[in-house]
Amino acid sequence: MKKLVIANWKMNPQTVDEARRLVASLEHRMHVVAEHTEVVVCAPFVYIPAFSHYIHQVKLGAQNVSWQDAGPLTGEISPLQLKEWKVDYVILGHSERRLYLGETDSMVNAKIISALKHRITPIVCLGGEENAKKDDMKTLVTEQFRKVVKGLDKKDLEKIVFVYEPVWAISTMKKSQPATGEHAYELIAHIYSLLEKKLGKMARNMRVLYGGTVNQENVHEYAQFPQIDGALVGAASLDPDNFWQVVSEFNRESIHRI
Ligand code: PGA
Repeated sequence: MKKLVIANWKMNPQTVDEARRLVASLEHRMHVVAEHTEVVVCAPFVYIPAFSHYIHQVKLGAQNVSWQDAGPLTGEISPLQLKEWKVDYVILGHSERRLYLGETDSMVNAKIISALKHRITPIVCLGGEENAKKDDMKTLVTEQFRKVVKGLDKKDLEKIVFVYEPVWAISTMKKSQPATGEHAYELIAHIYSLLEKKLGKMARNMRVLYGGTVNQENVHEYAQFPQIDGALVGAASLDPDNFWQVVSEFNRESIHRI
């Protein structure tokens, strides 16, 4: 199974030229890692048409999708609109959407179903909730997991990429504190155990990533655990060299274990 490193640009960069430059610099380097590592860029919607037809190795992702195909939902984006621009992935349940935009587990559940219906892979974040406490993360993750996968059959569940994203570790949060590699490993193992209960051995074909702050300085802390299948990277993904160090480290670990 390839490692997976996802760039979450959030509401950045500020111009389409910068967005094009960022993607081009990744696309040029992809041949070095493509055998063992996949890279996905989750860009703001308006930038997607600027490069969706010239990227081949970097995969394209979005940061939201509606639970409906069409209709009166101001500000939302349809899975059909994303598919037209070759979007293969979508981030759902990110802590920023939960905290600042009122996204609930049942909305995330409906959006997962909508994405899967159109063959867009949901990247589902678990661990974001206001005032989430470090010692209580297993309970929170279990509860969110149960609600966001409600009604999904095994075949659909298997297609999801899960991310452990502890809200208190995100760099933009006040008093943010990085999670240790052991903590990330422990919670990712916990997510695997939830998946195994539903899927049995099939759970081993899935990827579970870490999504607190990951950058060139701390990536080894997480990549050293073979059970951590990659990372969802925020701020560092806007600096191509920094992001590439993250990609390279996961790639190195993956080769190392063959
Ligand atoms: P960060 O964001 O890397 O900027 O801390 C991570 C995230 O939002 O998941």
